[in-house]
This record gives sequence, C-alpha cells and structure tokens, in this order.
Amino acid sequence: MDYTERRDRLRRLLRRQGLEGLLVTDRLNVTYLTGFTGEDSFLLIWADGQVLLTDARFTEQAEEECPGLDVAVRPVGGTMVEAVRRAVQSARLGRLGIEAENVSVGFFDRLSARLQQVELVKTTGLVEQLRQIKQPEEVARIRQAVWQAERAFGAMWAGLQGEKTELQLAHELEMHVRSFGARASSFPPIVASGERSALPHARPKPIPIGLSPVVLVDWGANEGLYQSDLTRTLLLGRISAKLRRVYQTVYQAQQKAIFAIRPGVPAEEVDKAARQVIAQAGWGRRFGHSLGHGLGLAVHEGPRLGPTRRNQAAVLLRPGMVVTVEPGVYLPGWGGVRIEDVVLVTRTGCELLSSLPKTLEEMIL
Ligand code: GLY
Ligand code: MN
Ligand code: MN
Repeated sequence: MDYTERRDRLRRLLRRQGLEGLLVTDRLNVTYLTGFTGEDSFLLIWADGQVLLTDARFTEQAEEECPGLDVAVRPVGGTMVEAVRRAVQSARLGRLGIEAENVSVGFFDRLSARLQQVELVKTTGLVEQLRQIKQPEEVARIRQAVWQAERAFGAMWAGLQGEKTELQLAHELEMHVRSFGARASSFPPIVASGERSALPHARPKPIPIGLSPVVLVDWGANEGLYQSDLTRTLLLGRISAKLRRVYQTVYQAQQKAIFAIRPGVPAEEVDKAARQVIAQAGWGRRFGHSLGHGLGLAVHEGPRLGPTRRNQAAVLLRPGMVVTVEPGVYLPGWGGVRIEDVVLVTRTGCELLSSLPKTLEEMIL
C-alpha cells in the first residue's frame, strides 16, 4: 500500500479546504493513512510533515507497521490533549481541521482550551472521501475477505442439520472464517430462522432452525484489514407459493440493481432500480433500508446506495468503489428474504466480487 501517496492526496484536499493541517482521530482513517493498526492513536498531518501520536504500548508496533514515520510516544500519565498541543505548536499550525465525527465533546473542549491561538475547524468525511475509491491492492484484499467468507459458508452449509441452533450456526461461521485465514468475522453473524428472518438485523438465538422454511444468514470476514459482507437466505422444506414470490422478487431486484451499476450513475438510481421491482410486487414498504453501502476497512462506509438525503449532494458511482447490493423484503410474523453481494465499480460497468449460488433452486436444501 502506498501510504505516502494517500497522505499526499489528503494534503491536496486540505489545501482546497484552506486547512493547514488535520488531526486524524478515526482509527481506520489513521490506518488508511499510515498502515498503523493500534488503538488510541491519532495522526497529525500538515503540508510538509506528519506525526503519529501514540503511547508506549505501540512503540514497536509503529516501527513495524509504519517504518520511517515520525512517531511521538506520550509519557505514562501524559494526555492525548497535551500530545496534540505539542505537535500542533511545533508544526506551527494556525488553522487546523479536526474530524468532527470522531472526537468526544469533552476532548474537543479540552483541546480548544489548550490551543487558544489555533483555529479548530470541524471537518467531515475528508479521509472517508478518499477511502471510497479502492486501489487495486485494496480490491485484492477485499476479494480475499470475500473468498474467506464464501469458503466458510460452504463449510457451514455442508454440515447443516435441522437440530443445529441459530447460535451454533453463527459460531460455526465464525470458526470457519478463521480457519480459512481471516482474523475474525467482520461483524457477529446474523442467523435468523422462520419468522425471525423478518428482523433485518436479528441476533442469533439458541433455537434449532428445525424445519423453518427460511434461514437468513448474513456474515462476513475480516481478512486482517479489509472486510466482506454477504447474505444468503436458505430455503428448507416445502417452498410455498408466497415464499417463491418473495424470493424471486428480491432476486430480480438485486439483478436489476447490479445491472444498473456503472461509473457516472447516481447511487440513488441503483437503489431505485431495486426498489421499483419490490414496490411493483406490492412490498415497497417492506424494504426498509438502503440498498447497500461501501465496504473496505469498515463494513459500512461510503458510498451509501440509497435515496439522497436532504442537504446532501447526489453521489455518482466511480471506478474503484466497492459496494454491497442487498435488497430485502421483511414481512412481520411471516419471515424475510435478503440477498447480499459485493460489487466493484469498474471503468465500463461492474464486477461481482462474490460468487456464491443464489438462485431460488440453488438455495433449496
Ligand atoms: N451485515 C450488515 C449489513 O448487511 O449491512
Ligand atoms: Mn450484511
Ligand atoms: Mn451489508
């Protein structure tokens, strides 16, 4: 990963904002800009320098993960506010951006009190904006995270039995992603059977999946840095006409959306493509979330595939964006169906990074 280039791109953004520097407080933004993965550490970056503000627990880790980077290790008992003050003063910064979404009000007040000569400017989404466009080595790592998740699903599916509980299956997925080389699951897996599949983010329970007609499984792998996020809805036993209709609607909605993905298309149009299919089938109000989200160092990052929010500019898809496409229909007291895949926006259209079977016939156990 070329961290120097990433920092230079951020510097160009800062210049355009009239900022002399930025205090990067979000852990994943720090990782993105340096490769450092420890906690409780900030990065101060300015026109011709940067320094990682950390503590003695991470001295060696910083040397290992970001050799050559300037590091300031605060003494035992020293505060982050004091470390920031020193670094800002020694870089002689007068107008400093601070990531408004990632510091507490308390920290901001303490820092403001110690930096009275400095104008602190609250910023939103500067590094996140860069993170939306994945470089080839990032795409390779997301592919790896998808591969681990898919292999784990295959192993879980091979051992699937009605006596197993939702919780057991969730644990199996966690174990299998690790056995295929992942560091962990990218989030606690969702395994929801029967009526509980109508809860889009159900927590697995110690109840056997039994003969539930549907089992919704949403899981992912963290390959070390990058994440994956997939959903399949397993169909067990006899498939009712209604279940068939719901499943085919969600499947068609996903196909339509994926077909709509290419550079220059507004993200909301992709959402609309799926939403229309579901609305036409009469379940428009039963698809209560956005169609998808960006995926990278975080499971949820920009861009959001959904209706444009008030006071926000429309997002246009660009090559290098990686997004999930996850339409769903959730009918309280009956059950739900969701299908989620990971898609890369390419120069000419898109590429599906995930490849597990998903047609109705293929999901019948
Ligand atoms: N697993 C959370 C999501 O699909 O966004
Ligand atoms: Mn998911
Ligand atoms: Mn998702």
